[in-house]
Amino acid sequence: MTSKNALDDNPLVEHTRRLPLKNSLPTRKSYSPSPQRSISELNTNITTEDDECIPKLIHRWNHKYSILSTIAFPNSGLLFCGTQDHQILVLDMVTFEKKQSLIGHTGSVLCLTKSADEKYLFSGGSDSLVKVWDVTQMKETHTIYSLVDIGDIFSLAWSSSLNTIYFGAQNASILFVHLLQSIPKDDPSGLPSQRFDKFFDSKGPTGDVHPLSHRKNNGELKSRLIEIPSSNIIPYAHNGFVYSMEINDRTLITGGGDGEVKIWDLNSRGLTLVKSLDNDESVLSLTRNESFLYCGLSDGQLKVWDLNTYQQIRSIGSDTNAIMSIAATSSCIYKGTSNGVIKWKFGKECKELWDAHQGSVLSSEICYRKGKALLITGGNDASVAIWEIPTDDNGPLRRASIAAVDNDSLLKTLGQIVSFKTVSKKPEYFIDESRRCAAFLTKLFNQFGADSEIIPVENGNPIVYGCFKGKESNKKIPRILWYGHYDVIEADDTSAWNYDPFKITATDGYLYGRGVSDNKGPILAAIYAVAELLQTGDLNADIVFLIEGEEECGSFGFQDAVQRNHEIIGDIDWVLLSNSYWLDENIPCLNYGLRGVISASVEINSDKPDRHSGVDGGVSREPTIDLVNLLSTLTTKNGTVQIPNFYEPIQQQLTPEEQRLYKEITTKADINISRETLLAKWKYPSLSIHKIEVSGPNNNTVIPRSSKASVSIRIVPEQNVEEIKTSFINYLESSFKDFDSDNQLKIKIVHESEPWLGDPTNSAFKILSKAVSEEWGIEPLYIREGGSIPSVRFLEKICKAPAAQIPCGQSTDNAHLNNEKLRVTNLYALRRILKKAFKELPSRSTLA
Ligand code: BES
Ligand code: MN
Repeated sequence: MTSKNALDDNPLVEHTRRLPLKNSLPTRKSYSPSPQRSISELNTNITTEDDECIPKLIHRWNHKYSILSTIAFPNSGLLFCGTQDHQILVLDMVTFEKKQSLIGHTGSVLCLTKSADEKYLFSGGSDSLVKVWDVTQMKETHTIYSLVDIGDIFSLAWSSSLNTIYFGAQNASILFVHLLQSIPKDDPSGLPSQRFDKFFDSKGPTGDVHPLSHRKNNGELKSRLIEIPSSNIIPYAHNGFVYSMEINDRTLITGGGDGEVKIWDLNSRGLTLVKSLDNDESVLSLTRNESFLYCGLSDGQLKVWDLNTYQQIRSIGSDTNAIMSIAATSSCIYKGTSNGVIKWKFGKECKELWDAHQGSVLSSEICYRKGKALLITGGNDASVAIWEIPTDDNGPLRRASIAAVDNDSLLKTLGQIVSFKTVSKKPEYFIDESRRCAAFLTKLFNQFGADSEIIPVENGNPIVYGCFKGKESNKKIPRILWYGHYDVIEADDTSAWNYDPFKITATDGYLYGRGVSDNKGPILAAIYAVAELLQTGDLNADIVFLIEGEEECGSFGFQDAVQRNHEIIGDIDWVLLSNSYWLDENIPCLNYGLRGVISASVEINSDKPDRHSGVDGGVSREPTIDLVNLLSTLTTKNGTVQIPNFYEPIQQQLTPEEQRLYKEITTKADINISRETLLAKWKYPSLSIHKIEVSGPNNNTVIPRSSKASVSIRIVPEQNVEEIKTSFINYLESSFKDFDSDNQLKIKIVHESEPWLGDPTNSAFKILSKAVSEEWGIEPLYIREGGSIPSVRFLEKICKAPAAQIPCGQSTDNAHLNNEKLRVTNLYALRRILKKAFKELPSRSTLA
């Protein structure tokens, strides 16, 4: 890490050069299109053909010296700009007139902030002073100074609830002062301008130190003088300049020249450090949007942190020019650099660069006025500009506003969570969306009166924990764990969809959208069922929700995270979930078994490069040929799997109870399916080869250097994951040895999941069955499934509690496929069934 100290060059204040002004429309720097793959490629050359992408210039004001800071008062229609020549310009955002200039500082005005009610303006300068201005009268009310030489003031934040101003200085300290509680001085002799400092006293651009009298002509002080008590100074809060600050209620976030972002807890006594986030390079600019913190660094990198989990979720870089200012909407960020403004759009991962200023963009902020999002930029070309942000970049305003527990609210909320593109397999595009969804679910839990926490997962999307407390009782009340997942499978081929997969569409009794059935609809049915019980005073069990974000990737990280947080999960009686489907379209089902899965990649590499098959064909053993031969050893010609013990040890005979259940299914279910087919799907293991990928340009004259197959094995409850895995690897390795090839075989287990077999006779199944029968007027079929849900068996083991699954949607839901859907009737029915079940499920200690 490069740590900067107070003696380093400061890019924020050296802006004396005046550049020619430019008032024309922005010019656009173009990028050539490139396939979108990894985040590092994304950083370089992305384009979009859409000219609407660049914000439209609404107005530009020119001044004589650099604009170092801006703060908009959108409700009052005013824009304040701190200049290098000590002024605060007051601009009218309606008439575009320059209204006046506030004079008070004797050095550059480096930072500005305001009170939320837009009554007060706060300014900090290179004269080491913070000033408070009453905007209703455009008058200076306070001058805040320190007896310690603190150098320039780079950052400012105001807390209305604590009536306290916080500021960060060049000498690495953070200072704060309560405005109402501090007693004003009547003698200005302590002011820094009255003292001489050989280190910090530099001449301003106008060539003088700009002496200003602190008294009016009648001898009165112009503003109240507040001296910061030494107890209100945190020396070396950073190991470098305190460049940037953000405040949110009782949390202060500061960015320093030491590359650290520090999170401070605020209270009336001061601030305590909660967390340090390492960014490697100086944090020149900071902004927060939702739960994301965007850090603009001196080397041009932008780091994005999730403040719920304190994980760094992105690092976007390569522009090399320091990010001196930064602004964000919920779908775009705007980076102010010496090369113009760079807009980065998330999800689409497109990048636009335009010459917002002829020179460095020293300040930028977003404000919302009259339904429009505006970007305000100030630069060292001595101009300040307002831009209108295209509505598409404004970001959907997805605030949870859902205290109602009715079905209309359920549908609305489902629409909202479907709109988060929570594709866990593609974090490079969707990591932010997953975190937004997690934050949204947390808010939803809170609004319904549940405790909620976001549990971080190492290298993965976090888990949302929610806990609804049941009514106190002198008996031990049951505690039920609901498991679900908010991540979804990708929906890349949108042309194969009849509707936008991430915009819920309700047609002919169905809801269409990615994740409606797997698994967003069912988790909301469960949450709403419990929320309703709580609201009507009928919740007599604790219900713990664990909603994860990596199920479709094999739930990696889930087990670790749950183990680490075992205490908040508590003593669980039952594990319930709804993440499977009916067998047909009409008969409700209960599910008591899942297969497990071992997912692997089998790769053959040669030490030769990709080659031309005409030039080099026949010379050596080809990886793809080796791979195809190797894969062919996995089965006989008629498909029987050859791996030793693959079909062991499976009970061949069906018990009388099993025979009865299968009979029921084959006679009642509205599908033409034999018992043998069902057994093949549910009771026996299987092996599939999903794809073969080759290195090189993928054309049919190239011998690929390497070739890789994705293989998975579904295993069943009597089997052991470890044994099958070892047998599979050993078998492939020994088969390959026989090939006597000089290529190398590499087998990688991508993920694995244990099978699950529940007890369909336990009281959870009985209660669910009764509720299902009452709801649908027909008894459910008891079925197993060929699919897998990695966490079910794990939760049973860690909670020492049996699991039961109730499928929500129909066989035709198309989970994982195009046009995924869910019948509204099924969603509402599940909700009612679960309401009954949550009410009736007993604590297991009360069972015989
Ligand atoms: N909902 C499915 C599980 C499922 C699939 C149940 C088919 C019933 C029938 C779940 O979301 C899923 O997709 N599971 C994956 C797990 C894998 C990635 C470990 C599966 O089964 O492929
Ligand atoms: Mn799935």
